[in-house]
Amino acid sequence: QETWKVALFGDGAVGKTAIAVKFTRGTFLETYDPTIEDSYRIHTSFQGQPAFLELVDTAGQDDYATLRDQWLHEGDAYVLVYAVSSRKSFMRLLNMEATLKRARQKSSHIYPVSMLIGNKYDLTDQAGGRAVGAQEAYELAQRYGCFYMETSAKSGYNITKMFETIVLALRNR
Ligand code: GTP
Repeated sequence: QETWKVALFGDGAVGKTAIAVKFTRGTFLETYDPTIEDSYRIHTSFQGQPAFLELVDTAGQDDYATLRDQWLHEGDAYVLVYAVSSRKSFMRLLNMEATLKRARQKSSHIYPVSMLIGNKYDLTDQAGGRAVGAQEAYELAQRYGCFYMETSAKSGYNITKMFETIVLALRNR
């Protein structure tokens, strides 16, 4: 039985907890309660093959350097999350080459899978709702050697797809 540990990383309030809750429980988390660190487990299947996922929801606020080092060690996959409505949350993910390189060297696993996620896609319906272009995000993902997707924990857009993409990549690495 395969078990994959997926770490969610990113600025405060971008929707890391909401993504984990939507995927594991199917409901949208309306309230905002800053996370220290939490994990969510789900038995699911992709392409007819069972998969057990453990999602590690890291703290977005404060100085999370210590926790970050921990997930760098442990994750089979890590997801860098920003909100498409927040320029600041995207800026916070720039210049992570050194961190990603360290993660890939440190990992006790063969090679971690990484993905850049622009969450809160539903807000792009509203005028002025988009603060980060899809093209620039795609270019950053290319530079990092990451997958890239936009999601909405609110509507569910691409939430299953993002975890499926991660698991298929893990199976095929
Ligand atoms: P930290 O715990 O501080 O790291 O934050 P987080 O990244 O876990 O954010 P969280 O999931 O708590 O979501 C923050 C707020 O954004 C909550 O009020 C959510 O309801 C809201 N939110 C999360 N995802 C979405 C989304 O896709 N669309 C919209 N419109 N709101 C969202």
